[in-house]
Amino acid sequence: MTEFRLTQISDTHLARWLPKLTQNFERVCEYIDATRPDLVINSGDVAWDGPSSASDLEFARKLHDALPVACRYLPGNHDIGDNPTQIGPAPSHPVTEQDRQAFVTVFGDDRWRFDAAGWCFIGLNSLVMNSGLVSEAEQFDWLASELACVGSRPVALFLHKPVYLNTPEDPELVASAIRYVPMPARRRLVEILRSVDLRLIASGHVHQRRDYTCRSIRNVWAPSAGFVISDARQDRIGIKEVGLVEYRFQPDGFEVRIVKAPGQADIDLDVLLAKEPA
Ligand SMILES: [Fe+2]
Ligand SMILES: [Fe+2]
Repeated sequence: MTEFRLTQISDTHLARWLPKLTQNFERVCEYIDATRPDLVINSGDVAWDGPSSASDLEFARKLHDALPVACRYLPGNHDIGDNPTQIGPAPSHPVTEQDRQAFVTVFGDDRWRFDAAGWCFIGLNSLVMNSGLVSEAEQFDWLASELACVGSRPVALFLHKPVYLNTPEDPELVASAIRYVPMPARRRLVEILRSVDLRLIASGHVHQRRDYTCRSIRNVWAPSAGFVISDARQDRIGIKEVGLVEYRFQPDGFEVRIVKAPGQADIDLDVLLAKEPA
């Protein structure tokens, strides 16, 4: 295979009681049906609230089963709970081994590696980082052993949370610690990745699309496929639009296109949650 076409969707946040998000997902499905990539990756927050409602995970899985191409999944904080951080408030629902396992049961492995078009693709569970759970240590050991046999191939990394805002040295701040891979796990991750030719870090979580390069590593923040978050609730860093990301990988490079599927609507979170007038 000389070219590998991959579509990243993220932050679908699906639940039976939120039909507007299902409608946006259906527009994404139609677009994927028309474009037929080799693979779809959902980079997390697949469901609205996995830890409190197992039925959200199952509902999201059922909708993804309608996709006409293969799909791989990574967990988000709304699927399995959030990372503890060194600073800032503790998450209302910290990640647990039980919730991680519930995700794996419905969606398959929460970390994976495969090769295509001369590239090595790695997906990581970013929520167990800094958790102290057994699966955090297991994942770091697994990552080290996978990277040991990558050789000179370029590497593309997928995970739910961006690793950092602009550079690996960005300080962790109270206001934004939950937005990125937390310290000190971030430092360890960056260090392990130094041994390979990392070209791409593709994430979701922020519900803002962004595409920038830091020291020859392209950082792509996928937009949410479902909804945007107002400036009153969240800083504006990139572009607040819904959409999806299309990649074309060839042995000597890759292309990135962030697009909106026809009919996909920029639903604001506040509007989504507003009660209908009685
Ligand atoms: Fe999200
Ligand atoms: Fe998230």
